[in-house]
Amino acid sequence: MTTPIGIHDLSFATGEFVLEHTALAAHNGTEIGKYHLGIGQESMSVPAADEDIVTMAAAAAAPIVARHGTDRIRTVVLATESSIDQSKSAGVYVHTLLGLQSATRVVELKQACYGATAALQFAIGLVRRDPAQQVLVIASDVSKYELDSPGEATQGAAAVAMLVAADPALVRIEDPSGLYTADVMDFWRPNYREAAIVDGHESISAYLQALEGAWKDYSEHGGRAPQEFAAFCYHQPFTKMATKAHRHMLNYCGLDTDDAAVAAATGPTTAYNRVIGNSYTASVYLGLAALLDGADDLTGRPIGFLSYGSGSVAEFFAGVPVAGYRAHVRTEENHAAIARRRTVSYAEYRELHERSLPVDGGDHATAEQTTGPFRLAGISGHKRLYTRR
Ligand code: HMG
Repeated sequence: MTTPIGIHDLSFATGEFVLEHTALAAHNGTEIGKYHLGIGQESMSVPAADEDIVTMAAAAAAPIVARHGTDRIRTVVLATESSIDQSKSAGVYVHTLLGLQSATRVVELKQACYGATAALQFAIGLVRRDPAQQVLVIASDVSKYELDSPGEATQGAAAVAMLVAADPALVRIEDPSGLYTADVMDFWRPNYREAAIVDGHESISAYLQALEGAWKDYSEHGGRAPQEFAAFCYHQPFTKMATKAHRHMLNYCGLDTDDAAVAAATGPTTAYNRVIGNSYTASVYLGLAALLDGADDLTGRPIGFLSYGSGSVAEFFAGVPVAGYRAHVRTEENHAAIARRRTVSYAEYRELHERSLPVDGGDHATAEQTTGPFRLAGISGHKRLYTRR
């Protein structure tokens, strides 16, 4: 029998601030039901002026390093679509902040929200080659749309760190994967822009088409039948998307799509995304965190994962929680990461949204706002300066 490989530990971090959708609705005159029910969002994380994908990534991964040490980590793969540099991997800054050994390969991966799943699959390949090594996979993103645009209500920010190892303590990842790529312009962010450009309704169709393609490929490669899964973790740009996706999948398979069945399969994955918002690469793994932290014991019961990244690439695969996983989840810390956020008014949120680092890279000291473990202190000589608080 081959050695099981998968997620050995999982930890997440999010932004310093939170904006309630009630405040956004009061500003733009939207009926709150559209946010709470229509898209399934209650609040969104907003990073402080001295937070970015590096500080969130380091904050997410620090508890993993504290629990498992650094000796066996020989690779760090950081997936993001809110990259801070065209050349240097954000993971190299994280490597320093975490005190990882110099005998480590570090790289950044990008394909919209899908990148972390590529990172996970690449990590599994590396561990298969050398089962003694552990790979730190980090998904870190800040989702930013134009103010007063339809996408604004689906912003968010978070990082998920996962330690990938042989004989994992949480979830064993299975073969096969179902794959799908199609060149579509549903959502993209040219290098000169901070906020993404999106055709919202087109992006939902592109997501559903990619789900269909990935599921079809998964089935053709001998994957499990839909009825075998205890739950489905979908990429959640907003949590209602998980409901739409699952209904579409069941329909495609010619199965019953009643509301209760859809809610049972997807509901337990939405608790964190509903209050954090879209965290792009991290979103599907925040779904996993919520599911594993939930009331049901999923030991030995397959979970379906659908990772989607605009542009577009999708992958469907299965994972199985292993015996004893409930002793290794971080439920208390996860709840604390959400509860510690400070609520901002709409005006404060708008100021944070509009503030960006100088585009010419001029020297700049950032306002001291974060109460997290790491901060972006500023920029000097075009170099980003990070500190441990
Ligand atoms: P919109 O066009 O303003 O909203 O923005 P809408 O009119 O479509 O309404 C949304 C839902 O609320 C509808 O339900 C309405 O009926 C309902 P649906 O028909 O979809 O089931 N509604 C109400 N419900 C209850 N009470 C009410 C009420 N009023 C309306 N009073 C949109 C929605 C998602 C398009 C917008 O937020 C957007 O553009 N978001 C950004 C793009 C996005 O999230 N796309 C998702 C798929 S692409 C993806 O997942 C990739 C991504 O993560 C990026 C990446 O890969 O890097 C985005």
